[in-house]
Amino acid sequence: MPVDPTGAAGSATPNVAAYLATLDTADWWRHAVFYQIYPKSFADGNGDGIGDLIGARERLDHLVELGVDAIWLSPFYKSPMADGGYDVADPTDVDPMFGTLADFDALVEAAHARGIKVTVDIVPNHFSDQHAWFQQALAAAPGSPERNRFIFLDGRGPDGSQPPNNWPSMFGGPAWTRVPDGQWYLHIFAPEQPDVNWDNPEIPAEFERVLRFWLERGADGFRVDVAHSMAKPAGLPDMDLEDYVPHTQLDVDHRFDNDGVHEHLRMFRRVIDSYPNRMAVGEAWVPDDKRLAMYVRGDELHLTFNFRLVEADWSALDLRKAIDGSLSAMAEVGAPCTWVLSNHDVVRHTTRYGGGALGRSRGRAAALLQLALPGAAYVYNGDELGLENVELPDDVLQDPTWERSGHTDRGRDGERVPMPWAGNEPPFGFGSSDSSWLPMPSEWAGMTVAAEQLDPNSTLSLYENALRLRRELTDLQGSGLTWLDSPEDCLVFRRGTAFTLMLNAGDTPVELPAGEVLLSSADLIGGELPGNSAAWLRGTDRVA
Ligand code: GLC
Repeated sequence: MPVDPTGAAGSATPNVAAYLATLDTADWWRHAVFYQIYPKSFADGNGDGIGDLIGARERLDHLVELGVDAIWLSPFYKSPMADGGYDVADPTDVDPMFGTLADFDALVEAAHARGIKVTVDIVPNHFSDQHAWFQQALAAAPGSPERNRFIFLDGRGPDGSQPPNNWPSMFGGPAWTRVPDGQWYLHIFAPEQPDVNWDNPEIPAEFERVLRFWLERGADGFRVDVAHSMAKPAGLPDMDLEDYVPHTQLDVDHRFDNDGVHEHLRMFRRVIDSYPNRMAVGEAWVPDDKRLAMYVRGDELHLTFNFRLVEADWSALDLRKAIDGSLSAMAEVGAPCTWVLSNHDVVRHTTRYGGGALGRSRGRAAALLQLALPGAAYVYNGDELGLENVELPDDVLQDPTWERSGHTDRGRDGERVPMPWAGNEPPFGFGSSDSSWLPMPSEWAGMTVAAEQLDPNSTLSLYENALRLRRELTDLQGSGLTWLDSPEDCLVFRRGTAFTLMLNAGDTPVELPAGEVLLSSADLIGGELPGNSAAWLRGTDRVA
């Protein structure tokens, strides 16, 4: 649908208009700000306490005001919800919990009318155990074509009663489950998520069909779930479990990042490139920057999440190392970095940085850092309000990790608590129901979208201002970054000719570089930048 590039965003300065026009070019994703909607938690449109596609459509104007370029919808496909929808039973249909295909179409149309692109999740490593193909595989005999769509093997030991190898599931317990005829099937995640067999040509063909289905319906791109997992190591050898930490993908784990994945990603790229201006971002928890860069070589994915800022400690040194490593590895393959602070799988950054007032200050500073870096950025729903993880009672936890870890790992529900929209008590206008699928803390009364909209010092106002400047300032639209000398515990860099970012990760105020302050995450103290804060400036000095 043709979009008036300036219409929905209000009165656009010439730079903003120029910026918005770039969103209709093939490379729009290179500097876009994406907003992750976790559908269950964003907005409830049908009053059942669970977020859905109607709710997402009704709340699009929040995203227009925020100033994002695109949304990423976590899975809303037919699913028994054993893993929050990442257990997909039908990848080309909408789960009734989230609505219908017509609701999806309406959401795409409404988003496009506002100049917002829509990207969707694709889950290529596994299906749900309720997927028709897995049900057929269970009913079929060992060695059958139906079983060959998954990874079924005989067990070890004289009676085959031991799993084929020692692999643990990412969610705790073994990665193998035995079926009544004695074979075992592989599930790197929950038993309800059988891994599919990418060596069987039926699997790439099926995913090509799924990609085309959503592209035809107007999706502007994809987020590829565990993009580093489709190829397994030959012979499925045992793992060295000595250093294995359950439910983390950050360790070196030879089940992931095998070279065979790249061939599959090339298929994704071929299909996506047969439609104009579409893209894909990979979720690949690959610890080595250079290995990560391989995912975004010219004929592979367009973007790959950069989790270095998620992993970095709150220290100038660590943050700088994370940024430098990523920038130089990505520059070698000509791809932009894709910066992330939070998502539905990791503890929210405000909490990671210490929580409370300190966590909030650091979180705001980190947002100014993230949004000033060259490349694309992903904002997770609720980041813009400065939300923290929530300590939930045991009996509401739903993440499979909680059960599978024998109640030792609480899992990821704490970062998935629904968005507070308005009002003074839970569920804060999330929907018309008087409850929400995960309970919301009453302390969020001051952090609703409505409350933060009224407060020029709120985190929401900070994000809105940062995103407006990001569109307006030509200096922020290039790919270069130059580090400048900085006081201890600080980072200072220049973008373009005059834009300067300063982040003070220490506790004591520091003098700001020369220039006009455009935005700061905290009030300046006698002209100095307080600890745990950041500022954007229009510098007056020249950089050699
Ligand atoms: C990805 C998703 C996560 C899910 C896992 C298995 O890491 O982000 O939520 O549990 O894949 O699909």
